[in-house]
Amino acid sequence: MQPKTITAPTILVAGGTGYVGKNLIRRLVQSSYPVRCLSRKKRLKKGLFDSKVDVVHGDLLNSESLVKALHGIETAFYLAHSLDAKQDFEKKEYKAAKNFAEACKEAGTRRIIFLGALGNPQEGPLSPHLKSRKEVGNILRASGVQVIEFQASIILGSGSLSYEMIKTLSERLPIMIMPQWTNVKSQPICIQDVLDYLVKAVELKTRQNEIFEIGGPDQVSYKDLIAEYSRQRKLKRWLFPVPVLTPWLSSLWLSLVTPLYARVGRRLIESIKTPTVVHNDWARTVFPSIKPLGILKSIEFALGEKDVSLAHEPSGL
Ligand SMILES: NC(=O)c1ccc[n+]([C@@H]2O[C@H](COP(=O)([O-])OP(=O)(O)OC[C@H]3O[C@@H](n4cnc5c(N)ncnc54)[C@H](OP(=O)(O)O)[C@@H]3O)[C@@H](O)[C@H]2O)c1
Repeated sequence: MQPKTITAPTILVAGGTGYVGKNLIRRLVQSSYPVRCLSRKKRLKKGLFDSKVDVVHGDLLNSESLVKALHGIETAFYLAHSLDAKQDFEKKEYKAAKNFAEACKEAGTRRIIFLGALGNPQEGPLSPHLKSRKEVGNILRASGVQVIEFQASIILGSGSLSYEMIKTLSERLPIMIMPQWTNVKSQPICIQDVLDYLVKAVELKTRQNEIFEIGGPDQVSYKDLIAEYSRQRKLKRWLFPVPVLTPWLSSLWLSLVTPLYARVGRRLIESIKTPTVVHNDWARTVFPSIKPLGILKSIEFALGEKDVSLAHEPSGL
């Protein structure tokens, strides 16, 4: 009698057309998981995903459109945000998260894996973006479906918007005026390490909700990141700190960065004013085999990445 082949349950990725999502889908396919990608775009670029990936059309802001996408799904990743929304991005984030959580509950999904953001309100007022990420985690947990939440700071990798902003600023501006917020500490993490955590969370033996703060070993300022990027690119850069923190200065920076992403970037810059560091080693305890890279190796890795197809082209703009 032929031995029965056990196929792993299909994994859904919401936000699968985004930067982290595309990278994750590639990893899950390499690990032989059947993958379904939720896409609000009806047509995706040819060859974007392996032919094994089942792309299902659906919009997180339209709850009906999620039923088919979640049919038969045991584990679902939530890697979406509405930072590119013209207005009321928080309202859209909460509605999208609620629709998704309820659809998971309805479909009998066992586990939601969410990638949120670091940031501790005791260390300073959270930006609207960071506050919203925390609230999205609460909304997903309120559904009663188990939630594994990872909280990260800047993700270093070619195509990650936070990294692309550092890259473009460093490449374009030989002389930089450094507003105060460029001294605020973050604890960046390499995309490869983020993916290790996300993939391992699929099989994690736990029935309870979990929150894991993840980060590389280095707590650095935005200025340090620009300096290290410029050093590795052998770019001579003069960074002049200025004690003022004018939103005008920040937005000037931003429009110099990439007008296209100005809206998302402006909301990300607001978040850089809040320290985004890891406060406990629970993630290291539960995932001891993952030893995240420091910024030196992470930027080296990002500079070595040639595959730009993983960068995200938002459809909301
Ligand atoms: N990148 C970082 O440095 C970083 C750091 C910490 C945490 N994170 C977290 O990681 C997660 C992924 O971030 P990312 O950098 O990969 O973001 P991204 O590249 O901007 O991708 C966002 C994704 O969300 C999707 N999306 C937005 N609204 C949607 C809707 N209404 N319906 C369906 N899909 C929708 C987008 O779809 P379209 O392709 O159609 O636009 C896209 O796939 C987010 O939760 C973010 O907070 C990222």
